[in-house]
Amino acid sequence: MSCVYDFNSKNFNIETYLQTRRQQVEEALSSALQPVYPGAERLFAAMDYSLLAGGKRLRPLLFLAALEGFNKGFADNSTADEPDLSAFLPFACGIEMLQTYSLIHDDLPAMDDDDLRRGRPSCHKAFDEATAILAGDGLLTHCFAMLLSVPADSHALVKAVRYFAEKTGIYGMVAGQCLDIQAEGQPITVEELRQIHQAKTAALLQASVVCGGLLGGADDDEAAALAEFGRQFGLAFQIVDDILDEVGDAAVLGKPVGSDAANNKTTYVSLLSLDGAKQAAAEATQAAVAALAPLGDKGRLLTALADYYLNRNF
Ligand code: IPE
Ligand code: IPE
Ligand code: MG
Ligand code: MG
Ligand code: MG
Repeated sequence: MSCVYDFNSKNFNIETYLQTRRQQVEEALSSALQPVYPGAERLFAAMDYSLLAGGKRLRPLLFLAALEGFNKGFADNSTADEPDLSAFLPFACGIEMLQTYSLIHDDLPAMDDDDLRRGRPSCHKAFDEATAILAGDGLLTHCFAMLLSVPADSHALVKAVRYFAEKTGIYGMVAGQCLDIQAEGQPITVEELRQIHQAKTAALLQASVVCGGLLGGADDDEAAALAEFGRQFGLAFQIVDDILDEVGDAAVLGKPVGSDAANNKTTYVSLLSLDGAKQAAAEATQAAVAALAPLGDKGRLLTALADYYLNRNF
């Protein structure tokens, strides 16, 4: 039996698990945007360019890990066969489309004005600004067609997609990006920065986890535990991103370092110093893991994933 799924086995390795799931997501993404709309080849080329440029695929992986946690076989029987998640891969792809749109728009001259993304010239550099804006629009809109194409219980699906739209839009990520831009060059407190990070970054991670739980049959209490996990994990993730923007390696990150300072952004590092930021990330990760406690075995995969990503350098 594959050790990918046998989480309780001594052979279980989180890296092998993530690599396996990442490959499945990559494969699904590679055919997600066919066929081309006649005459709009440039739009499709730009969407493919950014979507298929690698990336950690963290949000689809969180979605799948939450879904698997609620898989009955996984929760109750560690020797169950590898679950077939292929029917849910379109949902995972939709999540990654939204993530990719957010990065294309985040890099635009009017936003962070960054020229490197996922190890390549940013979309607006490789194409042009208008095409990059439209590629983002295309990925954002098509995301919802993907989310709604999985054979889940229709009540759970409607609930999940509504939650996703709220968290990634005007009550989450988009609002957070607005706060982030407005805060440039302004003196803000740690509490205000935490709110920005939770909105611009944690909300999408939260939505990815909660959607996995909801489609896996999580009840309201379980969904609330997943939401708290996502909120804290997302905060830790953006703090680590702030740290890497100071001390990371652009060749490893695939995006520029020093972008925050160049844009006069207040970050956890600028407010708390490097050590203070590392401490804040560790505390948020601990809070994330603690939030999963009520879920028992259903949260074990997410716990392993949280530990793994806090120690990233990419
Ligand atoms: C970048 O996200 C945007 C942030 C919220 C920090 P990732 O670091 O997950 O970027 P990819 O998807 O792996 O390229
Ligand atoms: C971006 O945060 C969050 C998004 C919603 C894209 P950053 O601006 O810090 O992300 P990077 O560092 O450019 O990936
Ligand atoms: Mg930004
Ligand atoms: Mg940026
Ligand atoms: Mg950053």
